[in-house]
Amino acid sequence: MNIAELDTPALLIDLDIMDRNLGKMADYARAHGLRLRPHTKTHKIPALAERQLALGAAGLTVAKVGEAEVMTKIDPPELLVAYPVIGKQKLDRLMTIAANTRVTVALDSLTAATELSAAAQASGRTIGVLVEIDAGLGRVGVQAGPDLLALVQRVASLPGLFFEGVAFYPGHIKVLNEAADVALAAVGTLLDGVVRNLEAAGFPVKIVSGGSTPTLYLSHQVARLNEIRPGTYIFNDRNTVLCGATTYNDCAASILATVVSTAVKGQMIIDGGSKTFSSDRPMGLEEVSFGRLLDAPEAVFGKMNEEHGFVDIRKVSKLFQVGDRVRVLPNHVCVAMNLHEQVYGYRGETVEHVWRVEGRGKLQ
Ligand SMILES: Cc1ncc(COP(=O)(O)O)c(C=O)c1O
Repeated sequence: MNIAELDTPALLIDLDIMDRNLGKMADYARAHGLRLRPHTKTHKIPALAERQLALGAAGLTVAKVGEAEVMTKIDPPELLVAYPVIGKQKLDRLMTIAANTRVTVALDSLTAATELSAAAQASGRTIGVLVEIDAGLGRVGVQAGPDLLALVQRVASLPGLFFEGVAFYPGHIKVLNEAADVALAAVGTLLDGVVRNLEAAGFPVKIVSGGSTPTLYLSHQVARLNEIRPGTYIFNDRNTVLCGATTYNDCAASILATVVSTAVKGQMIIDGGSKTFSSDRPMGLEEVSFGRLLDAPEAVFGKMNEEHGFVDIRKVSKLFQVGDRVRVLPNHVCVAMNLHEQVYGYRGETVEHVWRVEGRGKLQ
C-alpha cells in the first residue's frame, strides 16, 4: 500500500527515522552502562516494544496495569509499573501478570506498599519495589531524608516485596539550557545523598531509575543514575524539538490530514481536531498552536473542535485547496498515539506496517 491510498486523518511513522532513534538510544545506553527500560506509554504497540527489547532494553516500563497486560503478549523479561498501583481490582490483575513476568512497582506511600504486600502475599508472588523520590517536579515521590528512609524501611520489612532501589522523574527540566544543567547537577547531588544514606542505613540501592527524553543524553552525567526510562525518544515530537533535545529531522511521527474547507478567507479546515491531536500547547512558545504543518511551517494551527482543525494560512505563500493533504507534526506524540486506533509505518512512499495501538485507552 502507498501513503496516497490511506484515508485521513492517519498517524504515520517514518520507519527510517524511528529505527535511527531506537538505535541511537540503544547505543547510548550501552556505551554508558545504563540499564534501559523504555516507557511504552509513547507507542503503546507490543511490536515496537519487541524492537526495543531486541536492541538491548532490559525490560519495559508502563504507567497502567492495562498497559502492562497488553505488553505481556510479547513476554518481556520484566515490567516496571512506574505509577502507584492502588486498589484491589488493579492489584489482582497485577498479580496475574506477576505469575509469569517479573514485576516491579514504583510507589511513594505506605498505603501503596501495604496493599501491594498483601496482594503479593495472598497470591504467593514477590514484587520488586522502587521507592519514588521527588527530584523537583512536585508530582509524586517522597522527599529525600527521613520520609524516604522510613518508607524504605517499611518496604524492606513487608512480606512479598523486595526493595530494589529508587525512581524519580525529572519532568521539571523541560528546556535544555544553562538552568537545566544546574537543575540536573542538583538531581545528581540529591541522588548521591539518597544512595549514601540508604546504604549507610543497611539498604543496598541496586537501581536508581530516571531519565526522560529531554535530558536523556545527559543521563551519564547524573551521579548514581543507572537506569533510564525514556518514552518519547522513539518518535520525538514538536515539543522535544522546542525543548532543544532534538531536531525536526529526528521526528518520526506525523499526522496526515485532508483540507476539507477553505470557505473562510485566510483559513483552512483540516479533518482532524481534538479527537486526532493532543491539546498540549507548544513548549515555551507564546503562540497557541496544536502542531506544526510540515509543508507550511508559517501556518498556525491555532484552534480545534472535535473534528475540525482551524489553520490560519494568512502568512502562507502556498495555496491550499479542498482535497489537498497536509502533514502535521503533533506537539505531544504520546497523547496523539492514544487517540488513534491504528498507525502506519512507512518507508519512502510505501506503507510497510499497519499497527494497532493495542495499549490505547488503557486508563485502568
Ligand atoms: C514516570 C515516567 N517515566 C518515564 C517517562 C518517559 O518520559 P519521556 O516521554 O519524556 O521520555 C514518563 C513520561 O511521562 C513518566 O511519567
